[in-house]
Amino acid sequence: MRVLVTGGCGFIGSHQTVALLAAGHHVTIVDNLSNASVRVLDAIEQITGQRPDFHKINVADTAALYEIMRQSSTEAVIHFAASKHVPESFSRCLDYYENNVGGLLSLLRACEHASVYKIVFSSSGSVYGETETLPIKESHRHAPSNPYSSSKSMAEKILSDLCDNDQRWSVAALRYFNPAGAHHSGLIGEDPTGLLSNLLPVLMHVAVGNKESVSIFGEDFNTPDGSGVRDYVHVEDVAEAHLRALKLLDSPAHKKKGFVAMNIGRGEGVSVKEMIAAVEHATGAPIKTEVKPRREGDVSALYADCSLATGLLGEMDYKSLDQICVDAWRWQKHNPSGYESNVR
Ligand code: WQD
Repeated sequence: MRVLVTGGCGFIGSHQTVALLAAGHHVTIVDNLSNASVRVLDAIEQITGQRPDFHKINVADTAALYEIMRQSSTEAVIHFAASKHVPESFSRCLDYYENNVGGLLSLLRACEHASVYKIVFSSSGSVYGETETLPIKESHRHAPSNPYSSSKSMAEKILSDLCDNDQRWSVAALRYFNPAGAHHSGLIGEDPTGLLSNLLPVLMHVAVGNKESVSIFGEDFNTPDGSGVRDYVHVEDVAEAHLRALKLLDSPAHKKKGFVAMNIGRGEGVSVKEMIAAVEHATGAPIKTEVKPRREGDVSALYADCSLATGLLGEMDYKSLDQICVDAWRWQKHNPSGYESNVR
């Protein structure tokens, strides 16, 4: 299939591009490089032997998106391009809605003009917000606790309304929890050129010596050891789930429904302190910690019931937490300052 990957130079997008190319798909990437390095294209080529077409554009540029879809005969879109940091979304609220909701609307308009109606959408387990009901199912109410999560919830609503009212659209929204780790080659990984905010990359920067210590944002949550609990899932498993969702969009059963949202996670809650121990084990590096107050918008615990995805996409052989840390470390060790430090 000829697939357009928005945000394809980013952390998940680049891993998705590798998986798509390896599966024989043709990939065109659009990315504004606001949180990605163009050098990732060299790494993708090194891994797959193929260099995807790349266009540096913002998804708000509807006309450019349409032109690229027309020229590359796009058949389906995987939409990753979005702003993604929970803490940042409070101070940049309007930017988050403009980029995450406005950007989706621009993409949908371009898709309509190009008669492209198959979309796999990057959603988030954070749409559920704070909850006692764990592991969490897709039927759970949405109660986003920050503008980032609200923008994902709104985007899903737009997509499901579109599918309900126009049978041509076929959409799968994947609510992933905490994608983490790196491709097993160690050639691509998480390299936040913008904000270094997610737990595992922060821990990797401590382990490799770029950062002195990690802040534990709160140890007074209602969790076994008091620190925040999340469902960390290997980024290669997230990419595999998207490949399968792409196939699902063509199935007659799905076409009747039009829209589905699925949880993508391992279904296991891991606390900040457990993640720190896992990273110390995988890297052999002691991690210095400092306990700080809670971050605004953080929920105590969130992990997934993935039975719907298992039913629709098939049983996934999820990589373990240890494998996530070992693969993340291989990337960080060989790329201490990410892509920009490499001269390939
Ligand atoms: C995880 C835990 C923090 C950093 C993520 C993605 C977001 C979206 C939702 C997919 C929390 C704690 C973190 C640190 C810490 N994913 N923490 N010290 O907030 O769950 O959001 O999931 O769409 O894009 O960012 O992930 O890694 O920031 O935090 O104590 O230095 O680690 O409080 O409990 P989060 P995170």
